[in-house]
Amino acid sequence: MHAVLGVLLTLVAFVSALGSSCSTPLGAGTAAAGDPFWMQNIKHQGTAAFNSNPSGYQVFRNVKDFGAKGDGVTDDTAAINNAISSGNRCGGGSCHSSTVTPAVVYFPAGTYLVTAPIVPYYYTQLIGDARHLPTLLAAANFNGMAVIDADPYIPGGNGAQWYTNQNNFFRSVRNFIIDTRRMPAGATGTGIHWQVAQATSLMNIVFQLSTAAGNAHQGIWMENGSGGYMGDMVFNGGKFGMWVGNQQFTVRNVTMNNADTAIFGLWNWGWTFQGVTINNCQVGFDLATGGVTQATQSVGAEAIIDATVSNTPIFVRTSAASNGRLGGSLVLNNIHLTNVPVAVGVVGGAVVLNGGTTTIASWGQGNVFTGTNANGVFTQGNIPAASKPSSLLDSSGRIFGKTHPQYAAYAVSQFVSVKDHGAKGDGRTDDTAALKAIFAQFSGCKIIFFDAGTYIVTSTLTIPAGTQIVGEGWSVIAGQGSAFADQNNPQVVVRVGDPNSQGIMEISDIIFSTVGSTPGAIVVEWNVKQPNGQNGGAGMWDSHIRLGGAAGTNLEHSACPSGSNNNNCFAAFLALHLTPASTAYLEGTWVWLADHDLDGDGSSQITIFSGRGILSESAGPVWMIGTASEHHTLYQYNLVNAKNHFMGLIQTETPYYQPAPAAPAPFISNTAFHDPTFGNGINSAWALRVTTSTDIIVFGAGLYSFFQNYNQDCLNSANCQQQLLNIDSSSVVHIYSLSTVATTFQLSVNQAGIVNQGNNVNGFASTITSWSR
Ligand SMILES: *[C@@H]1O[C@H](CO)[C@@H](O)[C@H](O)[C@H]1NC(C)=O
Ligand SMILES: *[C@@H]1O[C@H](CO)[C@@H](O)[C@H](O)[C@H]1NC(C)=O
Repeated sequence: MHAVLGVLLTLVAFVSALGSSCSTPLGAGTAAAGDPFWMQNIKHQGTAAFNSNPSGYQVFRNVKDFGAKGDGVTDDTAAINNAISSGNRCGGGSCHSSTVTPAVVYFPAGTYLVTAPIVPYYYTQLIGDARHLPTLLAAANFNGMAVIDADPYIPGGNGAQWYTNQNNFFRSVRNFIIDTRRMPAGATGTGIHWQVAQATSLMNIVFQLSTAAGNAHQGIWMENGSGGYMGDMVFNGGKFGMWVGNQQFTVRNVTMNNADTAIFGLWNWGWTFQGVTINNCQVGFDLATGGVTQATQSVGAEAIIDATVSNTPIFVRTSAASNGRLGGSLVLNNIHLTNVPVAVGVVGGAVVLNGGTTTIASWGQGNVFTGTNANGVFTQGNIPAASKPSSLLDSSGRIFGKTHPQYAAYAVSQFVSVKDHGAKGDGRTDDTAALKAIFAQFSGCKIIFFDAGTYIVTSTLTIPAGTQIVGEGWSVIAGQGSAFADQNNPQVVVRVGDPNSQGIMEISDIIFSTVGSTPGAIVVEWNVKQPNGQNGGAGMWDSHIRLGGAAGTNLEHSACPSGSNNNNCFAAFLALHLTPASTAYLEGTWVWLADHDLDGDGSSQITIFSGRGILSESAGPVWMIGTASEHHTLYQYNLVNAKNHFMGLIQTETPYYQPAPAAPAPFISNTAFHDPTFGNGINSAWALRVTTSTDIIVFGAGLYSFFQNYNQDCLNSANCQQQLLNIDSSSVVHIYSLSTVATTFQLSVNQAGIVNQGNNVNGFASTITSWSR
């Protein structure tokens, strides 16, 4: 090739990889030292498209505009709670959920003294100045459950609460110091009562708790729910850093200093902890265990990867000895101990695994399975170690992690608002052309701010490689119209990067959706590959795919009540497709086909259809940190020709209507999309299917089947479906801490059931501690 032409072609390739014609690349942040976080001063013109009065409803609220002083002296409780609740929002016990009253409640730098809980109503993000974290300071006479209470108990209500714990969706709390140290050491000073479900996050929070001997403070208190993701938190002091029980959760990057007990586990079906640092505590993980029946459910499955523990007498302590039974599966992977005499012990003093100053590569307690052997071996000892592809690791050999980007170093002038450039976000106007023009003009030059709203697109919208997008209280991009009507000719709604493109891609606080009926919608096609040497350069944080069950989707209870099997109630062909050349970092991603209506009464079941959940053909690296995929017809996760995936924890539910109709109905199998075959007794969705894929590590999974045609009798016989996890004989997969509910076989090879759940009953779920081949 001619040299000059070669340079030219390289330039052209470079520009097209950036996908944008802008002249001044974004570069580093230019916020001045004293500037507030950009979010404080960006123009606030977000709306709730389907509120009854969109122009009168305020999405963004600065607590100082509601009278909070932040001076550390004034009691700001009422002002903050007024900032949250104003606008006839969903709370108080009479409203269980709503998508039409979202709010971003912003706290400028300052110290906010409170005497009673801050109560974030449904669909609230509480966000502090990310440049100068505000402090929420509990007064000495603070009275109430916690400084932030995400699900209040109704006084005198016999345990009744504002929200249903498993349906307490759409919450986030970020960028705070929460300080309970003025409260008496003996009071139960609590930072956050976090009883939540999917699409929730805690992020970038420092807990300052009492360090007095025998104090009763705790950072997070959580008694149940169906989470969720949390990470990037530091806990100082306290009786407990975290005191937690919930069906499942993913926790990444937490540091616990000087607590009596860093993390107390009350109950779960499965939790994954990734990147835990524990310094100078008495006990690292103190776990209630021993419950092998539903009535005695305790901590079912705890999986810990990449922990550093120092000067702590006991790393993990279980309340009951395991005695060769389940009732407390445990997986420890890459654990570094320094001066930790007991690695694993039992209350009362028995030592299961000696500690010291040492490294634990791969240790487990529970039933370990290999290949097609139906019989597990109860193990309390070393378990097979997954070989970890280096592409998934950081420089210290841990699973790589990347914090939700907040652009704290960037000035307001480095953002561009889509509403300032012609997009309406009103849930009616076709914004396709406006959004295309915005990406063409600004990708790579500005951070693109999607003011709160619902942006309708009627043909494929490509987000070019090189783009950074930030939503406001989960801005919605929704595909609508005839382009997405034909399941025999599926079309992409949002294409993340052109096929084979490479560059930065950061998406946060966005919901991708459809307005039905859209049986031919591929909601998100993810093509982009991270820049060379930039792990996590292409990713999505606190962003979700939500299909139906919300105002404006036309797939609500009125049109699609449960059992209606209506041909006009299709939400998608495929929710998320990671294509072969892509890489992806997904943190806190919920891919949900609604089983009930979030508006209306907030609980009525609906019957709508989405063909497929997440299809990954990516050669990796792919990180799925705290992801879930629920109620899709053919499968929730389908890995085909995939490589180099870390998935922890993944959570699924099978559609409630199955097996009537039997899968794949009402969809038609499509070989071009690598659909599974059904028949021979397989008539319900696969939770996870892995075909011709290698280097797949599943570190924590909760795969659930709760219904047969809306009836739950099958829970008692643990056979709502026969099989839900299939691995073909050519794939290399390592699975740890797999808990399933009501599937006869927990794991199949080549669609033949291998591991029967009856051998692994572990409370409500059944647990495989390790499976490999
Ligand atoms: C939630 O947890 C509390 C405390 O353990 C318990 O009393 C309550 O019954 C639980 N509620 C549900 C719905 O599981
Ligand atoms: C971990 O969280 C801290 C804040 O607590 C943050 O500064 C750090 O960058 C995070 N590290 C990773 C790998 O996410």
